[in-house]
Amino acid sequence: LFAGETDFLKGVVAMDGMPPADRLEVCFAGRSNVGKSSLINALTGRKALARTSNTPGRTQEINFFTLADDHYLVDVPGYGFANAPLPVVEKWQRLLKAYLSGRPSLRRVFLLIDSRHGPKTADEEIMQLLSKSAVTFQIVMTKVDKLKKGELDKVLEKTKSVIKKYPASYPELVLTSSEKGEGIPTLRHIIATLV
Ligand code: GTP
Ligand code: MG
Repeated sequence: LFAGETDFLKGVVAMDGMPPADRLEVCFAGRSNVGKSSLINALTGRKALARTSNTPGRTQEINFFTLADDHYLVDVPGYGFANAPLPVVEKWQRLLKAYLSGRPSLRRVFLLIDSRHGPKTADEEIMQLLSKSAVTFQIVMTKVDKLKKGELDKVLEKTKSVIKKYPASYPELVLTSSEKGEGIPTLRHIIATLV
């Protein structure tokens, strides 16, 4: 699947701008700066397909990428702190929630959590929303290159105990580093085997 072509299709700012829900779709959600756009670049092997930045609030639209002819990869704005005016941020957040809870073709949400920080209240709000909407989510731990094994184990235990509370959670976590490539083949495989 990932050997095929990937392209940017469009950035969407309102639900009525969404492309037709006619193919398998996965999205990458998470707090601002967690590494959503970087992960899409790592998965597709295209360094600058999705725009990344050290400033939280870089991605401000729901960006659709075509993967082969029959999948969408979707990059969304982060939640939590963003370097943008509040009314603007509130607008994205409303759009994000509408998208996560009301997109019929959304097959799985990859919910990204920074390995250094573990799940926060804002993550749990999203887990709750997804559970209410019966949209399966799977946790992807990001930036594992930034910490030591012992530190990681603690965060993983904590994360597993948190997701257990949410019926839409998929039990298996994926550990990734977009920088070093760790976990990227695993995540590609997971996406390629979704039906
Ligand atoms: P927003 O669009 O602002 O919500 O952010 P985002 O979640 O899309 O994060 P983005 O991919 O823009 O990355 C944020 C910062 O984290 C950038 O400076 C990236 O280079 C860095 N980063 C992302 N993934 C990794 C990783 O695996 N390891 C390390 N060390 N840094 C990473
Ligand atoms: Mg981004």
